[in-house]
Amino acid sequence: MIRVGASLLLSLIVWLYHSGQSANQIIASGSPGHAGRGDYVGDTACTSCHGQQSTSYIHTSHSLTSRPVNKDSVLASFTEGRNILTIVDSTNAAGQPGLYFKMEEKEDGYYQTAVTGFDSQLLTRTARMDLVTGSGVRGATYLYWEGDQLFELPVSYWTDGHRWINSPGYTNGTVDFSRPINPGCLECHASYIQPLSTDPMANHYDRTSLVTGITCERCHGAGAEHLARQRDGTAGTAGQAILNPARFPRDRQVDLCALCHNGIRREATAPAFSYVPGQPLSNYFKPLPVSTAEHPDVHGNQVGLLERSRCYLSSPQMSCSTCHDVHAVERPAAAYSERCLNCHKWQSCGVSKRLGHAITNNCIDCHMPVEQTNVIVSETGDRIVQASMRNHWIKVYPSLRSKSAAKH
Ligand code: HEC
Ligand code: HEC
Ligand code: HEC
Ligand code: HEC
Ligand code: HEC
Ligand code: HEC
Ligand code: HEC
Repeated sequence: MIRVGASLLLSLIVWLYHSGQSANQIIASGSPGHAGRGDYVGDTACTSCHGQQSTSYIHTSHSLTSRPVNKDSVLASFTEGRNILTIVDSTNAAGQPGLYFKMEEKEDGYYQTAVTGFDSQLLTRTARMDLVTGSGVRGATYLYWEGDQLFELPVSYWTDGHRWINSPGYTNGTVDFSRPINPGCLECHASYIQPLSTDPMANHYDRTSLVTGITCERCHGAGAEHLARQRDGTAGTAGQAILNPARFPRDRQVDLCALCHNGIRREATAPAFSYVPGQPLSNYFKPLPVSTAEHPDVHGNQVGLLERSRCYLSSPQMSCSTCHDVHAVERPAAAYSERCLNCHKWQSCGVSKRLGHAITNNCIDCHMPVEQTNVIVSETGDRIVQASMRNHWIKVYPSLRSKSAAKH
């Protein structure tokens, strides 16, 4: 009873919020933007007609970015000997309490246990690994449910080196299971969850409402009406009733990606999951101050960096889709050089005379270099783990210019 009451109240508040918006945010009813949860049909409903997009999409990191923890999704090793993360080894640290984490596969699921203290008196805490966020391109962080609340587990998986690390955000050397998962985290890594409060930092959810992974309808809007029109043959006359970002103005196309790819330091002005593709993102978040960032941060600001590139500033049609097809898995970086050559002649590169045609194999590493970031950082024992990301500011990097000048 309580749950129903709270979600009704929330819908009412969301509705009131929208009815107070400016005219350009009112969306025609029957359009995929004006949908209740019941109008979302899920990815399998698209497969029969859009086999090409659907069969490749299920392997993408968007689709895999959150999942229930099970055999297919755990990635890490639970075998004896590889399932321990030692932070303080009490046999070496005289007088200090030891600390290690043990990851175990049991009959009813996967568990993390923290063990601390002296051999004579050990304290333990255990929690079940319920959900995983992160496809594993870089790593994966596990979450657990406690009642209607969701928390981050202390140990994450890091793909580079196939190892366990302290979860980013937790202090090295502590036993802490208390980092709450707020709706913003799931807004980027899942398709839906119904929060039980309008406070954007609140950590109370209707567990049964969770839709994991990023689904087709995150970017295309709810699909029920599109399906109905396809089935009764009215799509041709009445319209497809599905959003195609290719038809959005460039800025709205980039807004769709910026919902999740413009850094995490931002302030929402509308409830999580209320964003409708095609609408200005500024209706949902306070505008970010003009970006001064020169490097990718954690939750990379590809949008802010690309927007500073002369390629982007001088090409009114350029968007993320100029290079990325989000329906297919990422290709090796160098393969994107062909996209550069759609707009540039290789001969116009400053080093083309010296290095010849070979530069066409890889424009990327020189003009979009990989950099180490300081934001996804895990301090684990005496090691530090950092994520590398590609810089989306396409330009001539001074370090390369001086290198190439020196070789002349
Ligand atoms: C019964 C068959 C059918 C199903 C199921 C279906 N579609 Fe479509 N869809 C079509 C046809 C036919 C078109 C028009 C031809 C085309 O663009 O491929 C279309 C067009 C589209 C377009 C382009 C619209 C435009 O204006 O350019 C998008 C995007 C789309 N569908 C997404 C989806 C998504 C997402 C789902 C699942 C929620 C889905 N479709 C389910 C048949 C279907
Ligand atoms: C709802 C949030 C969301 C939206 C919208 C979104 N992305 Fe992502 N994207 C993510 C997340 C989360 C990841 C990281 C997935 C992972 O590895 O767990 C990601 C990863 C990626 C990657 C890396 C893929 C890989 O295999 O390494 C690319 C490229 C990308 N997104 C491009 C785009 C583009 C282009 C758009 C706009 C058309 C877009 N994304 C829209 C959330 C989003
Ligand atoms: C992260 C956002 C995102 C997700 C998720 C996504 N799409 Fe798309 N989709 C796009 C964008 C952007 C375009 C337009 C690409 C372009 O500019 O050519 C598009 C275009 C399409 C089109 C039109 C293709 C055409 O040639 O006209 C169809 C059909 C489609 N998507 C189906 C799907 C289906 C089915 C899924 C799920 C299996 C899906 N999409 C998931 C962003 C997304
Ligand atoms: C504003 C959107 C956003 C928010 C909020 C966000 N993430 Fe992410 N996250 C991303 C994107 C996008 C990526 C992919 C790396 C990139 O391009 O920055 C990513 C990457 C990750 C990865 C690494 C995935 C991989 O395999 O490469 C993990 C793990 C992760 N996020 C967990 C979390 C957790 C846990 C939270 C909440 C506490 C969170 N993220 C909040 C957007 C977000
Ligand atoms: C959609 C077309 C388009 C694409 C795709 C594109 N560029 Fe550009 N790029 C431009 C335009 C236009 C300029 C500005 C030329 C001018 O102002 O003279 C430019 C400028 C540049 C510059 C000079 C930057 C500066 O700050 O002086 C470099 C370097 C560059 N591009 C490299 C690349 C590389 C490498 C790629 C592929 C990763 C790429 N471009 C993709 C259109 C594009
Ligand atoms: C000029 C081509 C180009 C454009 C335009 C472009 N990207 Fe990328 N992007 C790349 C390349 C190349 C990679 C590296 C792919 C790899 O390593 O396999 C990449 C990687 C990524 C990744 C993976 C994380 C990382 O940084 O390594 C994300 C996320 C991403 N792009 C998002 C976006 C978004 C969002 C936009 C639009 C704002 C965008 N990209 C526009 C070329 C481009
Ligand atoms: C080995 C590194 C390297 C590779 C590979 C490379 N570039 Fe460059 N590029 C440079 C450097 C360095 C400069 C600046 C040269 C100078 O000003 O002395 C430059 C300059 C440019 C410029 C700016 C020219 C101007 O004067 O504004 C463009 C455009 C460009 N490159 C495009 C490309 C494209 C397209 C490719 C792939 C076909 C490519 N580059 C491959 C290093 C590289």
